[in-house]
Amino acid sequence: MASARKKAAEAMAAIDVVIEVTDARLPEASSNPMIVELRRFRNRPCLKLLNKSDLADPVATSAWMDFYNRQPGVRAVAISAKNAAEVARVPALCRQLAPHRDDGTKPLRMMIMGIPNVGKSTLMNALLKRKVAKVGDEPAVTKHQQTLDLGPGMTLTDTPGMMWPKIDYDADGYMLAASHAIGRNAVIDEEVAAFLGEILIARYLPLLAARYRLEPAMLAGFDGPALVEAVGRRRGCLVKGGGLDLEKAAQILLQDYRDGVLGRISLETPQTRAQMIAAADAA
Ligand code: G4P
Repeated sequence: MASARKKAAEAMAAIDVVIEVTDARLPEASSNPMIVELRRFRNRPCLKLLNKSDLADPVATSAWMDFYNRQPGVRAVAISAKNAAEVARVPALCRQLAPHRDDGTKPLRMMIMGIPNVGKSTLMNALLKRKVAKVGDEPAVTKHQQTLDLGPGMTLTDTPGMMWPKIDYDADGYMLAASHAIGRNAVIDEEVAAFLGEILIARYLPLLAARYRLEPAMLAGFDGPALVEAVGRRRGCLVKGGGLDLEKAAQILLQDYRDGVLGRISLETPQTRAQMIAAADAA
């Protein structure tokens, strides 16, 4: 971690704007506090991209943008790195954040930072309009730092080293696992799906009812594990001998969330995050 910090600090000294990529469905859990600390230390403005906003709840995303846009030196924008028109806005937004570089003599130097799997490579490829880094759903695919020309007078550097999430709260670990920023082998799907289930029951009950054709009144009485069981029954997830295959049921629920087929879902809002932190600190 010390070497990651050193690399990031050195890289930040040589750029003008930090493009911090987070997952719009869990913007705080998917951020790395070192990025905030270093860019404040180096006094670098930040374009905070709430990526994968095509999968996130638009109401929650709007609340997050208000939250971040109140922070000095930050411009928050919701984006889908898979949407070329949205990506095309990024260089101009960076220019607005570093007007001192806009005299036509010095290049605007941007650096993409973020934890694994938030969409940095997808964004980089879309900005450069060619494939420069391997894109994959398995976390930690981006490995080497590189600086590339992004049109006249603009350079783009990718994340220096690995920026792992900092998991201060159990809920952060579960949110990251549900969204697949933490690898498959590191977590127990049933536990993660039960955690996700609690959020879905509390905040997205109609989407659940529609997807799995379950009675809303019945769903309202479920907890996370009961929801996983109900999904398993509905989808015929059985083990030999007739019992429920809860691992398979958990994987179905998680995959449906990850693919966005349940609908647009956010795992945290500024309000739920404040409540989660207050409850964890009081415990
Ligand atoms: P990273 O460099 O930060 O590690 O992330 P990467 O670009 O590899 O993206 C991780 C996964 O997230 C990829 O999925 C990518 O397609 C997907 N992704 C990135 N940005 C967006 C976005 O704005 N919206 C949506 N819906 N997905 C996004 P994958 O399953 O490996 O690839 P694919 O089959 O989706 O292409």
